[in-house]
Amino acid sequence: MQNDIIKMCLDWGCIMCGIVAFLSSNKVNTSNLLESLSRLEYRGYDSCGIAYINDDNSIYIRKSVGYVQDLKNDIANNGSRDTLSHVGIGHTRWATNGPVTIENAHPHTSGNICLVHNGIIENYEEIKNNLVEAGMCFYGNTDTEVIAKLIDHNKKIGMSFFNAFKACISKLQGSYSLVVIDSDTPNQMLCYKNVAPLVIGISDDSRSIYAASDILAFPQGIKRCIYAEDQDIIQVVSDGNTVSANFFDRNMKNIERNISQDIESAGEIHKDGFEDYMLKEIHEESGIVKHVYDKIKHKSLAHHRKICFVACGTSYYAAVLSSYYLEKYASVQARCEIASEFRYRSPIMERDCLYVFISQSGETLDTLYALKMVKAHGYNTFALVNNSHSAIAREADSYSNVMAGPEICVASTKAFVAQFASLMALFMPEKLDTNNISKNMDAVLQNNNDIKTLADKIISYKNIVFIGKCYHYAIAMEGALKMKELSYINAQAYCSGEMKHGPIATVDKDLCAIIFAPKDEFFDKTITTAEEITARKGNVVIITNKSNKEIIEQYSNIKSQSSHISYISDGDEMSYPFYEAIYVHLLAYNVAKKMGKNVDKPRNLAKSVTVE
Ligand code: G6P
Repeated sequence: MQNDIIKMCLDWGCIMCGIVAFLSSNKVNTSNLLESLSRLEYRGYDSCGIAYINDDNSIYIRKSVGYVQDLKNDIANNGSRDTLSHVGIGHTRWATNGPVTIENAHPHTSGNICLVHNGIIENYEEIKNNLVEAGMCFYGNTDTEVIAKLIDHNKKIGMSFFNAFKACISKLQGSYSLVVIDSDTPNQMLCYKNVAPLVIGISDDSRSIYAASDILAFPQGIKRCIYAEDQDIIQVVSDGNTVSANFFDRNMKNIERNISQDIESAGEIHKDGFEDYMLKEIHEESGIVKHVYDKIKHKSLAHHRKICFVACGTSYYAAVLSSYYLEKYASVQARCEIASEFRYRSPIMERDCLYVFISQSGETLDTLYALKMVKAHGYNTFALVNNSHSAIAREADSYSNVMAGPEICVASTKAFVAQFASLMALFMPEKLDTNNISKNMDAVLQNNNDIKTLADKIISYKNIVFIGKCYHYAIAMEGALKMKELSYINAQAYCSGEMKHGPIATVDKDLCAIIFAPKDEFFDKTITTAEEITARKGNVVIITNKSNKEIIEQYSNIKSQSSHISYISDGDEMSYPFYEAIYVHLLAYNVAKKMGKNVDKPRNLAKSVTVE
């Protein structure tokens, strides 16, 4: 059975990108599509485009390489953004099939067909060859264009729009969601969902229907939605007054889907005066810790004695950090697994274990597939997400929301501390003094000038290591990841005891080691590692607590050779990770800013990683 599941996961392949579309009996300002795309950029941002049907039934289409802002500028410079239409689609891309070019950007067209797609079509080469033989020409090299050409071809041989769409779906293999419009049939919008997310939003007056990868794309005021299930065909039709969405299975049997009420689409998300979303989100960390801990602590998981955390990226580090406390203070056996590895090993699963899947987005494909695998074997699953409507929340037996609020910056910051605080609340409800923790996290923000000074020194290094012991090591990993994601400096994390087992060979005058050493039970051991680095001419940055100033200054080697000593508030084992987390977030932010990087949208990354 496990092999079947793994095969199923492999077959699903990779999916990214964000899609949005509307069909309305009112005329809608098409610049709304651009605003929706801005909110979907976390799904990819290498190129984007919009299309809509004009009054004369022609299709307007505009695409751009780069960010949605580039497309907005392009449209503004080439005519009005404020055009009205009854039907339109938009897309933001993270390239999988075909390089980043205008031709390969979506929407894709053929004849009167225009569509946006999120996912991959595995058998597109074969279909393309058949279409080429049938005389169709291709302008780019994506699998998506093949879908447009196939629907158009089906129409040309006499099928209606709907039948042409259905016949196309029956030929496509892969994991994808799709929204198609046809200027011959402007009162219809056809959608399909398989693995890649698709949600249908319904306006209160039932005069408009939206389709999108995420409810974030919906305009403000959309309170009702339907989460499409895998293999749903959705026919959205306008009769000129109301617009309805009919759901069918692949055998064209009508299906009923539940309507979720009172959803909170984001509407406009602002930077609230901050220069970037990242800085705004870092500033939200202290408030979130208090809020989430107080809210969640009534929902205990403390009766579980065995936990297996499964996650990726920053969420995985939140698991590693939490596992330390679960074992030490709650006597809970806690194991941490990287989702993409866990799925492909043959993990020994246990009945008495709770499998906890942590994901900010709730959409990370590796984590989702790992969850499906554990569930398929009948084990107990729990999700910790920042989006209650996400696939991971819906798939798990139960879930909890970390309540960090929408996190826009691709690199996760506030969600990391929210995940850690949530896990502490779920397993150790009375352990954190959140008032004090919040206050001292704010003190790190107030010390930003010191962090900026350090950032100035760091930008010249090509070799940065973050070092810590036990829970500090989890923060070291988070710090190194943030540094890599934002500055592209190849930062690594080591637990202090491991340095001498290999990494110390890399130490020379060009290395900068950022070492977490507040005065706790690990201090002496960690300082020994720092000494070993200075003895080999490496530069050290020590992050310690204020009351430790006199002690740290007695270490003459460190003091004389150190590039920097930073002070955080006095704390304890329960509070230091919060101060250190906000510290490394702010440090990576400042380094990247000084290097002139786009901190909210680092190169090559996407926030919701729905690829294998
Ligand atoms: C991407 C992001 C990371 C994030 C990871 C896991 O790689 O760039 O910042 O930690 O995905 O995301 P999740 O939504 O599952 O927490």
